[in-house]
Amino acid sequence: MIQPQHTGGRVNVLTTPEVITSIDELRSRLASARERAVPGDARIVLVPTMGALHAGHLTLVRRARSRGDIVVVSIFVNPLQFGAGEDLNTYPRTLDADVAALAEEGVDFVFAPTSQVMYPAGAASTRVTAGAVGALYEGAARPGHFDGMLTVVAKLFNIVGPDLAVFGQKDAQQVFLVERMLADLDFRLALEIVPIVREEGGLALSSRNRNLDPAQRLAARSLSAGLDAAASAAPQGVAAALAAAHARIDVQPLVKLDYLVVVDPRTFLPVGADHVGPARMLVAALVGNTRLIDNVALDIP
Ligand code: PAF
Repeated sequence: MIQPQHTGGRVNVLTTPEVITSIDELRSRLASARERAVPGDARIVLVPTMGALHAGHLTLVRRARSRGDIVVVSIFVNPLQFGAGEDLNTYPRTLDADVAALAEEGVDFVFAPTSQVMYPAGAASTRVTAGAVGALYEGAARPGHFDGMLTVVAKLFNIVGPDLAVFGQKDAQQVFLVERMLADLDFRLALEIVPIVREEGGLALSSRNRNLDPAQRLAARSLSAGLDAAASAAPQGVAAALAAAHARIDVQPLVKLDYLVVVDPRTFLPVGADHVGPARMLVAALVGNTRLIDNVALDIP
């Protein structure tokens, strides 16, 4: 039940999140929540997720809570961004636990549609295409992944109409492509990117980490250790940064490196050996059957 509460400067629309599965219902609840908000210009903040929430997601939600009046978290395991043979069917689905965690964070609405609601015709026949950068790195390993991701993100932006959306820096290529979609397609919302949250030992938090056994989890730390070593070696240049990361990662037999690359943050294309200025190192590896990604900002003087 909607119970408007006034807490300091912001309006807390609900005491616990209401789980909404229908697009029309969400739109009408958001419209009335906006109307009730004082002074009538409530800011809606969206955190798009696929559920199986961990502390990293909750950091995004806290950021959203601090930035807006009405916080919507979407939970939807988007079939369009999974390829054949990927983990769509086994992707963890933990809606009750997710909603309980979001209640603690003062989230107003959880939008948890079914695939039928999002794709009534079976799949979106109109898709957003991620272009050439969408075919690199994660896109090379997961063809079509970024088209599916951008398509659902565009749908979520149109459904929720947020003023701000919050994403995590862990999916650096996703962030780049969403930022570019906003610019290219003239979306009227802002993005806020939250730094990567890491467990003790450095492993970046991910819903897929729960698939790692203890030995794999330990070995997976080499990814963040490699990135740390690269950041320290960056003053010596791109080649030194790459060598430092390889030295940490390649020695781990349980870690099968897919790519380790330094990109220009403005284009997301690989930089040359003589690159100077800001850069980002991206890494992806298979640890057992679990695909892990991570990244770090580098400053190459
Ligand atoms: O990062 C994710 O969890 C997904 O790619 C997103 C943005 C929720 C779209 O399905």
